[in-house]
Amino acid sequence: MTGVENTSELLVETVTTVNGREVRASVPARLHVADFLRQHLGLTGTHVGCEQGACGMCTVIVDGEAVKSCLMLACQLDGRSVRTVEDLAEGDELNGLQQAFKEEHALQCGFCSPGFLMTATALAHQGGRPDRAEIREEIAGVLCRCTGYDTVVTAIERWFAEHPQAVTDPIATQG
Ligand code: FES
Ligand code: FES
Repeated sequence: MTGVENTSELLVETVTTVNGREVRASVPARLHVADFLRQHLGLTGTHVGCEQGACGMCTVIVDGEAVKSCLMLACQLDGRSVRTVEDLAEGDELNGLQQAFKEEHALQCGFCSPGFLMTATALAHQGGRPDRAEIREEIAGVLCRCTGYDTVVTAIERWFAEHPQAVTDPIATQG
């Protein structure tokens, strides 16, 4: 015994809204949100790269803001609302932002795509219509190992131009 309490198995009761559904869970105190989403809820669209806040692959939206889910503990989600990339599609159809990524060839392997998609969706939650330079600045926290970033910026710019409701109504980010 070292006298230091081992809290790794401590469980915390949480109630979280995930993609519009209430989720009650007992989560290990040290579990981060990305692993909670992937391993406990099966939402594997949230990808994990560095697990230290550097790559942005794990970006989700918490209460309207883009959050790197490897840097947040699952127990901190209690009482909060989370949106993941699984919530973007409309049934079997891609939403407007996903469609723009597809048509602008804004991905290759797609590993980073959930990070870009959720960062752009969070940008819509903030309102306004970002210009190209602002989009570039906003997505700077997401790294892509495959593409140039121009097509990603173009896809996001196109989505804002074609779906102004995403700007005027922060909740209407499905279009
Ligand atoms: S996995 Fe979270 S920022 Fe890299
Ligand atoms: S498309 Fe492969 S990492 Fe971005």
